[in-house]
Amino acid sequence: MARERIIDASSQDPEERRYDLALRPETLDECIGQEKVIAKLRIALTAAKQRAEPVEHILLHGPPGLGKTTLAHVIAHEMGARLRTSSGPALTRPGDLMGILTNLQQADILFVDEIHRLPTVVEEFMYPAMEDFQVDFTVDSGVHAKTINIPLQPFTLIGATTRAGMISAPLRARFGIQQHLEFWSQDHLAQCLARSARILALAVETEALNLLSRCSRGTPRVANRLLRRVRDYAQVRADGRITRALAEKALRIEEIDELGLDPLDRTYLRTLIATYQGGPAGIEALAATLGEDRDTLEDVVEPYLLQIGFVARTRNGRTALAAAYRQLGLQPPAAPPARTERQPDPPEDASLFE
Ligand SMILES: Nc1ncnc2c1ncn2[C@@H]1O[C@H](COP(=O)(O)OP(=O)(O)OP(=O)(O)O)[C@@H](O)[C@H]1O
Ligand SMILES: [Mg+2]
Repeated sequence: MARERIIDASSQDPEERRYDLALRPETLDECIGQEKVIAKLRIALTAAKQRAEPVEHILLHGPPGLGKTTLAHVIAHEMGARLRTSSGPALTRPGDLMGILTNLQQADILFVDEIHRLPTVVEEFMYPAMEDFQVDFTVDSGVHAKTINIPLQPFTLIGATTRAGMISAPLRARFGIQQHLEFWSQDHLAQCLARSARILALAVETEALNLLSRCSRGTPRVANRLLRRVRDYAQVRADGRITRALAEKALRIEEIDELGLDPLDRTYLRTLIATYQGGPAGIEALAATLGEDRDTLEDVVEPYLLQIGFVARTRNGRTALAAAYRQLGLQPPAAPPARTERQPDPPEDASLFE
């Protein structure tokens, strides 16, 4: 990561993790928002409990910071199960997964974050584990190769990913429950902030909470992070009470605008508009011009810009939409910039044809 972003929903330092832990809901009842997801999970969990079985494998996908990890913990808590955690990039060889799987106890939950980054060999090893609660382990190689079949305890796999599109069809098909997490509404973010303020015993004006929820990019992690910055500011510069004016000042210092866009979002838009004439521009080219990681742009920056209708993704690349021009105080082009082919030059008196 080239620089720290307050908006970045993915990076976390240890102090932030502690803060996060304190604010994380433990039960489904404590969870805010995500009503449809919560309702479906509630049914699945209740049914599994009645049958005294582990719940089906669950795939949670959606942009960073919307509550995938939180939900995995909540599910484990609701099922009274132990949660084991790992991640796609940490499981480099089948042996890594083998160790974890054979140590699972009846009804344990295995949470695999960034599951789209599981190497193929590990992924294939996972199939029989998910389907039949067994693993086929090959010992030796060549003519001495033998496959040993090892039974496992029934368990639940919860996979989380920011890139549902990068999960192979066979892996995806083995998840009985698949849920997409959406960006949160302002109302839910405000509720989340009020809850966090209560837990942290902060005195916050409702107006300040509303402002922060508008500037949180639909993401509870961002909301909680902003609240922390504002709290620090209130403690150092004022008497600790978080007023609307104070929240405004703190946001200004963080260079976050009224839509929650931060400097990287604005640089992204400005680059797309000025350097690439509004696009279409390929993601690699944009990443190179911005000196940013392609993954950061795709996972963190773009989902929200797409959601608010500032950018469109076309086959030929990214295109800036009129709202993005206006936000930067620029005049949107008269014709839509999303051209799939080079257009013929306009006739002399183009206005006749508009
Ligand atoms: N349902 C909820 N109610 C209240 N707060 C929540 C809820 N879901 C998430 N949060 C808060 O949002 C923050 C981010 O959630 P979480 O870490 O689960 O996101 P994530 O989707 O796992 O993100 P990533 O993809 O980066 O791993 C946490 O601080 C958590 O407290
Ligand atoms: Mg997570």
